[in-house]
Amino acid sequence: MGDFWLPEAASTIAPEVDGLFLFVTAVSLLFLVGVTGAMLYFVYRYRRQDPSERPAPVEESRALEVSWIVVPTILVLLVFNWGFKSYVKMNTDPSGTYEIQVRAQQWNFLFEYPNGVTSDTLYVPEGEEIKMRMSSSDVLHGFYIPAFRVKYDILPNRYTSVWFEATKQGDYNLFCTEYCGRDHSEMGKVVRVVSQQDFQDWLESAATPTDIPLPQLGERLYTQRGCQSCHSLDGSRKVGPSFQGLYGTTDHTMADGSSVTADENYLRESILKPEVKIVEGYQNLMPGAYSNLSERELSGLIEFIKAQSDKDPPASDAQTASVSASN
Ligand code: CUA
Repeated sequence: MGDFWLPEAASTIAPEVDGLFLFVTAVSLLFLVGVTGAMLYFVYRYRRQDPSERPAPVEESRALEVSWIVVPTILVLLVFNWGFKSYVKMNTDPSGTYEIQVRAQQWNFLFEYPNGVTSDTLYVPEGEEIKMRMSSSDVLHGFYIPAFRVKYDILPNRYTSVWFEATKQGDYNLFCTEYCGRDHSEMGKVVRVVSQQDFQDWLESAATPTDIPLPQLGERLYTQRGCQSCHSLDGSRKVGPSFQGLYGTTDHTMADGSSVTADENYLRESILKPEVKIVEGYQNLMPGAYSNLSERELSGLIEFIKAQSDKDPPASDAQTASVSASN
């Protein structure tokens, strides 16, 4: 467990980072106490006790001057050397590392494994060097696992990477640490460190069977591809319209005043080219990253959205509908 000072340390690099952090903190504290203590003592010791008192001129002390140049120089170089070594180690991928792709988008992380498995929880084996190859579909995001002491920016149009070796099984937090829009604070995931055997078992079980029914495939994609961060299933309003009762709506009002029928073709177009038809009251904020869905995945998502249509449409849409009907 973590303590008052630091979160739990669960990677090979963590003790090194913590050691340096604690060293810098201890040295700073020593100087704070020493300098403040000396100052308070001198204020008292050399206070003027008689209005006519004039202090004698102070002679310079060579030893004192040399010491306050040499000691801090040594300390600073020590910290530099220590920090630089750790920095180089953290930024040089060991050879033969297992690579996991990280795709960040507003407001979701997706992890993709070498065998094609995608997951929205980051599963990693214990005791193995893992490299994260990271890219962003839209804006600047951050990749931060406090327990592993790794943190790096994820940029659009460029790959960045970090590596780590987890040392303790368990669940840890993963955060986005660059302000990336409305739901930045919600952009967190779980890192699950498991034994190497459990990791292999999970990898096999998570591989999407080709015969998984379409609505189930859609449901899986709904969370994995981050649809759920913008589209609710219960009618509540998020960045995008809710999927509840969406399919089959015949008077779905668009921003330009036209109205469309929410059929399969409309859903398909809205997933692949979200900018073409914008629903009234919403903005064009959907990432274009879904154009790489396979035909089967696309069908799965559409079937999943269709399955949400037997529920009642949300109250706000019903209102919109009655207003446009009276016009
Ligand atoms: Cu992504 Cu903040």
